[in-house]
Amino acid sequence: MASQAPSALVLGIESSCDEMAAAVVREGREICSSVVSSQVEVHSPYGGVVPELASRDHARVVSQVAEQALDEAGVKLSDLAGIAVTAGPGLVGSLLVGLSFAKALAYRAELPLVAVHHLAGHLAAAELSEPTLIAPYMGLVVSGGHTALYRVEEEGPPRLLGETRDDAVGEAFDKVAKLLGLGFPGGPAVSAAAQSGNPTAVDFPRPMSRKAGLDFSFSGLKTAVALEVQRRGGQEALGESGIADVAASFEAAAVDSLVVRSRRALKSENLDRLAVVGGVAANRVLRERLEDEGRKLQFEVIFPPPSLCTDNAVMIAAAGSRALARGERDGWSVSAFSRVPVGETPWRGGAE
Ligand code: KG4
Ligand code: ZN
Repeated sequence: MASQAPSALVLGIESSCDEMAAAVVREGREICSSVVSSQVEVHSPYGGVVPELASRDHARVVSQVAEQALDEAGVKLSDLAGIAVTAGPGLVGSLLVGLSFAKALAYRAELPLVAVHHLAGHLAAAELSEPTLIAPYMGLVVSGGHTALYRVEEEGPPRLLGETRDDAVGEAFDKVAKLLGLGFPGGPAVSAAAQSGNPTAVDFPRPMSRKAGLDFSFSGLKTAVALEVQRRGGQEALGESGIADVAASFEAAAVDSLVVRSRRALKSENLDRLAVVGGVAANRVLRERLEDEGRKLQFEVIFPPPSLCTDNAVMIAAAGSRALARGERDGWSVSAFSRVPVGETPWRGGAE
């Protein structure tokens, strides 16, 4: 397939977890529209994402979300150069809703379809928000499902340097929110409660930070928070200020682990740019700590704006736009995958 300049309009569709999103991006960089339909109200009563409910709600809203994205961009289907859609990793039921819709739309409008890796999308958000960010650079992906460090290269897939051995950092935030009765989604709730707390009130473990290497671990930290809450007589006995102290101390420990590993990775790879992406990149303390470290150790930190950190379709359209420009296409047999290493395209096996 001949390669084309990424000059055209691409519709992105993202439905890997509990957000149904659609966006139109021009030239892989300019955001023409971005619609995100959140399911907070659907999952709130359960304190976490219920996969079956997520896919049902996606099926309910997918066409109206896509239509709104086209309307807000002032674009017709026939103006598009292609459709990009997340094929994994994520919840398979949720992914299939976006994928099936994108396939049907692409088929009807006779448009090329390209499947995008969710984490490649998160990394593309950093490049979109900071045009001077050119590979090679370090990518720290911190979300509800992933915690990993990648060396992003100009050519070829990002190289995995380290990842969590158990829970993702966002998952730890969500579980701690539940332990402290702070509601769902947990990350922003813990962060808000932590603002009035003392981050040195409890000396929580900094998981793996004394061990060599670039892997992370957050399940021990989560257990330490559970034990602390129990030791102090539970949520109610803690009271507002106790909850704030535990939240702030947990946040400080989680952020410390991310900072230590990022610093180590930059040094070992001899890089001076760090892009932080994924939902937890919206965290204020993480932003401040990494910016501070960057000033001290002379590395540049790039954070997309919070709306591009959490799941969105702009990042999928941006990554898809580049893939289309490289001549990548997927066939109608493309399917969803729950676990996929970055750079692999198992969905392409059945491409026509
Ligand atoms: O990238 P994302 O929207 O979805 C996944 O791909 O997982 O990330 C969602 C995660 C959730 O665990 C959420 O609690 C966390 O990001 N999160 C935060 C903040 N905002 C979202 N964690 C800490 N501080 C925040 N401000
Ligand atoms: Zn994500």
